[in-house]
Amino acid sequence: MNTNWVYIKDLKNHVDELVEFRGWVWNKRSSGKIAFLQLRDGTGFIQGVAEKKDFDDETFEKIRKIKMETSVILRGIVKKDERSPFDVELSIKYIEIVHEPEEDYPISKKEHGIDFLMENRHLWIRSRRQFHILKIRNEVIKAIRDFFNENDFVLIDTPIFTGSIGESAGNTFQLDYFDYGKVYLAQTGQLYLEAAAMAFGKVFNLGPTFRAEKSKTRRHLIEFWMNEAEVAFYRHEDNIKLQESLVNFIVNRVLANCEEDLIEIGRDVDKLQKVSLPFDRITYREAVTFLNKKGFDIKFGDDFGADEETVIASQFEKPVFVEKYPRKIKAFYMQPSDEDPEVVMCDDLLAPEGYGEIIGGSERIWDEKLLIERLKECNLPVEEYKWYIDLRKYGSVPHSGFGLGVERTIAWICGLEHIREAIPFARTLYRVYP
Ligand code: 4AD
Repeated sequence: MNTNWVYIKDLKNHVDELVEFRGWVWNKRSSGKIAFLQLRDGTGFIQGVAEKKDFDDETFEKIRKIKMETSVILRGIVKKDERSPFDVELSIKYIEIVHEPEEDYPISKKEHGIDFLMENRHLWIRSRRQFHILKIRNEVIKAIRDFFNENDFVLIDTPIFTGSIGESAGNTFQLDYFDYGKVYLAQTGQLYLEAAAMAFGKVFNLGPTFRAEKSKTRRHLIEFWMNEAEVAFYRHEDNIKLQESLVNFIVNRVLANCEEDLIEIGRDVDKLQKVSLPFDRITYREAVTFLNKKGFDIKFGDDFGADEETVIASQFEKPVFVEKYPRKIKAFYMQPSDEDPEVVMCDDLLAPEGYGEIIGGSERIWDEKLLIERLKECNLPVEEYKWYIDLRKYGSVPHSGFGLGVERTIAWICGLEHIREAIPFARTLYRVYP
């Protein structure tokens, strides 16, 4: 028999044709003379129907008893079926079993605890909900790359091993690096992007970053992906515009290309459709006043935790920028405000519905003396930053940038309870397996 191998996503273009399917049986049910096989192939899910009359008794019995996650090559006729999300089902005429598990597949339809699912993450990613979430992740990452490519940014891949701490010293992973001694896993690629912005003007990166954070929250990963951008001559206002354009672009691309995936995972798409430019903004000082009116007890200089962020964000339907935080609670490299030197020209972008901070950004200090002063104030070893200080010696310019937490953004877009589902293999406080 000579048939074409067609992926599920393309089957609708082959109605009434005999095609070949290659994939897995993720579930099955049978009623006497008919067996229904739920099939998946990495592009989607469909139902296959095998009728007893089309097979010899032994083969039909095999189909009826087929184990979950058996891999198969099937041939069958594509039939129109409006009830299926892919508009078709497969009337199976031939089956070849590639591999049938000896044991029952560990993940069944019954409710499993999260520890069990995470322990079996290598298998869990085959299930429908995880499939849709990780497809949305793929779209978010494509959108990020497209946004920066379409806006003439140059991709700069920043290193993972680094001698200069990029954020706070409190949550670094340290390693011994041959004769060099102590180095860190990158918490951020920002310092390197600043160097590159002086060479290319507009730059971005996208890669893993590491934080040895002992916080076991729904929003923290130990290894997470960050997308950072840095632009020479950009000030705070330009930086804000760039961030909101990026987030608006990502959300619109996911709505345009993954609406079905969002619906499948039960996301309230209406809420995402409210995202539009410009985003709302409040200053840190305004936020303190607002929170105290809401019953918090916050003084200027206190940082906001998840509860404070949720209460602020709940006032808005779109993401909201909180700007101009106190210098004392922010990183060493942030430029103080001219009008209000106690605060820095920074912003955190809070996602709606309590999904927390998805972006942190700022104007950078571009004066050499001030930078050295701030490094000392933060107890950072000035000599390790020689190269970074050099950027302020040769044609220094005001510049700004930001970092978007990829998994936080996905968790918000997908409406996930916990960030661990936003990445294929999460590294959390107590998990590095599988
Ligand atoms: O606000 P952060 O720490 O900013 C920086 O690292 C800057 N150097 C970025 C820059 O300006 N180039 O982190 C940026 C974002 C946060 O807003 C958050 O979304 C995410 O990264 N993030 C985390 N995501 C998951 N798990 C964690 N432990 C995270 N820590 C930060």
